[in-house]
Amino acid sequence: MESATITQNARTAAPGAASGLAADARLKHLAATMKRHQYQPDALIEVLHTAQELFGYLDPELLVFVANGLKLPPSRVYGVATFYHFFSLKPKGKHSCVVCMGTACYVKGAATLVKKVEDYAGIRAGETRADGSMSLIQARCIGACGIAPAVVLDGVVVGHQTSESVVNHVKGWLDNGSDRTA
Ligand code: FES
Repeated sequence: MESATITQNARTAAPGAASGLAADARLKHLAATMKRHQYQPDALIEVLHTAQELFGYLDPELLVFVANGLKLPPSRVYGVATFYHFFSLKPKGKHSCVVCMGTACYVKGAATLVKKVEDYAGIRAGETRADGSMSLIQARCIGACGIAPAVVLDGVVVGHQTSESVVNHVKGWLDNGSDRTA
């Protein structure tokens, strides 16, 4: 199993900086998005959309990463992220399972994987269990196509997943924290 963890340094590094970015392909993807917009501050909402699609939600370090990239005060980025209801600043559930539904992952069974997790957790993609134990999120290509199908489990990218491997992981969360039936 291959994995990559988001590090604090990676998130606060300026786009294009060598350190840290290699740690997570999603950050490279986000940096490329900002570059494509020539780091224009008025691309903020579109960049935040991309960030949320890649990560499932916008945590504070990610907002700082975007602020650095677009040369905006973090307070402005935070203000925009909190103003629009379609941005989430944290996963609603204690645990988060983000399944990539990009083309490479889709052709390798991502839809089946989502369905199995939905059935096991008793929620649909985009929902959080009533007991708050986990959220299931779908994302666009997270930049890890080489290890498709890719899933992000509590912020850690894991590749070559099967329905069984992800459901087992989810089972571990639910068995350790709460009743399986929401
Ligand atoms: S399509 Fe899933 S990582 Fe690219």
